[in-house]
Amino acid sequence: MYLKHFELQEMPFSLTTDTHFYVDGDSHRPTLISTLTALEMGEGYVKITGEVGSGKTLICRKLIEQMPKKWWPVVLTSPKINPIQLIHAIALELKIRFEPGASPHFISKLVAKRLMQLKLDGRRVVLLVDEAQLLQPKTLETLRLLANLETAKEKLLQVVLVGQPELDIRLSRPEHRQLAQRIAFSSELQPLPRSAQGIRSYVVTRLVQAGHCNGELFSTMALRHIAKESNGVPRVINVLCHKALIAAMGDGSRSVKRQHALLAAKDSQGVIRSTWFQLQTAA
Ligand SMILES: Nc1ncnc2c1ncn2[C@@H]1O[C@H](COP(=O)(O)OP(=O)(O)OP(=O)(O)O)[C@@H](O)[C@H]1O
Ligand SMILES: [Mg+2]
Repeated sequence: MYLKHFELQEMPFSLTTDTHFYVDGDSHRPTLISTLTALEMGEGYVKITGEVGSGKTLICRKLIEQMPKKWWPVVLTSPKINPIQLIHAIALELKIRFEPGASPHFISKLVAKRLMQLKLDGRRVVLLVDEAQLLQPKTLETLRLLANLETAKEKLLQVVLVGQPELDIRLSRPEHRQLAQRIAFSSELQPLPRSAQGIRSYVVTRLVQAGHCNGELFSTMALRHIAKESNGVPRVINVLCHKALIAAMGDGSRSVKRQHALLAAKDSQGVIRSTWFQLQTAA
């Protein structure tokens, strides 16, 4: 596509959540640090919320990447599961072997035993639940019971709940108040500032990571327009930057100017409207 034209080695604004492209923003950095610190301190629960496309899944991957080697991350990426499936998923991640017909009660006991053994070995088991807003009430309750397991001093299982703002609505229900009360640390991922300056380092860093010599491909006016149209939401910035690069190449231009950003936005109205809707309903 435009890789050769702009002297890039890989796509700079791909929508995959590749930690190689992580940018240490003003909201992402503190979230990462405070979550790791809370886990290190032994907190039972940590919660991270953020709008669609704000970088929650990327933060999960960064957390795993930055955890000390002795920690044991257990990742739950499809939380639309029932309590039995939850126990099975955790048991599998902890490499517990059990017969296909084993009862959930028996598997739960094996999980508890394994968690105790890991604690004695100095391992810290951290369960990361991405898309936690989708957890069913009964599954959330089973999770709470598992996270209740502890020695006299420490939790055997620490939980990071990561989800869209609906997660807070779910946790505010009366049946989840015991769990909600135990969440001592929470962070909310914010969009980037809606100005050229606010998104410049994001765009430049991703371009450099993709192999560009200095990342200076977008004019200030182009960045300003992209910042405004995207509301600073990283996924939307990616879509607009990608399309603006295509428009610039189509024009035979070596850099991205305002008219290319305008074309990109015109071509992405569905994506842009979804962001406006999110932010307005959140306000
Ligand atoms: N700090 C960041 N640095 C670099 N890229 C980022 C950052 N935050 C988000 N992105 C990029 O934005 C896109 C969306 O990120 P991600 O999938 O993590 O969002 P999400 O909050 O999990 O969205 P959803 O609510 O839809 O699950 C990805 O391409 C990701 O790489
Ligand atoms: Mg996600």
